[in-house]
Amino acid sequence: MKKIFVIVGARPNFIKIAPLMELLKANKNFNTVLVHSGQHYDYFMSKVFFEELNISEPDYYLNVGSGSQGYQTAEIIKSTEELLEKDRPDMIVVVGDVNTTMASSIAASKLYIKIAHIESGLRSYDRTMPEEINRVITDSLSDFLFTHSREANINLEKEGLEKEKIFFVGNIMIDTIVNNLDRIKNRKKYKEFGLDKGDYILLTMHRPSNVDNRDTFLSIVGALEEISKKTPIIFPIHPRTAKMAQQFGIALNEIENLKIIEPLSYIDLLSMENDAKCIITDSGGIQEESTFLNVPCFTVRKNTERPITVEVGSNTIVGTEKDTIVNNVMKCLDGECKYGEVPELWDGQTAKRIIEVIEHESN
Ligand code: UD1
Repeated sequence: MKKIFVIVGARPNFIKIAPLMELLKANKNFNTVLVHSGQHYDYFMSKVFFEELNISEPDYYLNVGSGSQGYQTAEIIKSTEELLEKDRPDMIVVVGDVNTTMASSIAASKLYIKIAHIESGLRSYDRTMPEEINRVITDSLSDFLFTHSREANINLEKEGLEKEKIFFVGNIMIDTIVNNLDRIKNRKKYKEFGLDKGDYILLTMHRPSNVDNRDTFLSIVGALEEISKKTPIIFPIHPRTAKMAQQFGIALNEIENLKIIEPLSYIDLLSMENDAKCIITDSGGIQEESTFLNVPCFTVRKNTERPITVEVGSNTIVGTEKDTIVNNVMKCLDGECKYGEVPELWDGQTAKRIIEVIEHESN
């Protein structure tokens, strides 16, 4: 029996491992252990996802908490190394591009433990994003590179990674949507805010490049002020954004039609995405979810590591300039929205394909 450590730490990780944990736990060929680094720790950033998506309690909780990039990364390397040395799994599985993904891969690689990376090969080609550094390093250390689009395979091959290690399996986040689609459609969360279906905009924003820079933050807020005069905006706010708004003295709650709320649980957020007129975001995951749900999405960033959501899906990159954001969103509010299609293998079967590969290749 193979011992597998699934290592997670931040909100998007929890959403992605839900379908995988379910299948791994039920598979008698694997002894699966779940490790939570503690990168995210607030109830609404962590535990709520375990409860709502029925993920088993972590077997180990490493309690690293927040800190600078270097501090957090170092703490995760130290604590995962200690655990991996003690328990010696055959393989670790990491997902996405957060600090926990990279740091635990560094620890495992130096102990000669195999690494499987889910959501491998995404590239924004923007090294100012901490996530881009995490992606490149994790991929360079991984033995199994599981990709969600053919473009990701090409990115990895361009970096010289061996073709034999790369497996195009589809998008695991879509498994989580497919498994919960009825709950998402029935939730109708918008009613709690006195809104009508299709008559509001959902906003999420937390990227350091947007909220840690006062001018960029103000430019986006200027756009939101304009847009909200036409259609109400609901904004579940990330702790980083709340902290930076306060530090910069940006009074978001004074914008009349912009409603700030606490971060939402998975089903609540997906319900708000599904029933929105459109979405404004800087999140990676929401660009993909909106593509699957075929809801127009405006990404307030200069680039995306998920170009398939623009080429095939309903996503548009609008940058961070006030006028460009306003013009694009207004066009949609006036009835000219971009819709799209669901990309290849975003079909709810990705976790199954990943496990088949691991079972086959590790024999
Ligand atoms: C991290 C990921 C990002 C992902 C995001 C999802 C990295 C480099 N970034 O960014 O890719 O999109 O998670 O949410 O790994 N905080 C709390 N409570 C928490 C967690 C964080 O209050 O439970 C606050 C702390 O002030 C902390 C700040 O949020 O300093 C940032 O948290 P951190 O995990 O460092 O990065 P995120 O911005 O959440």
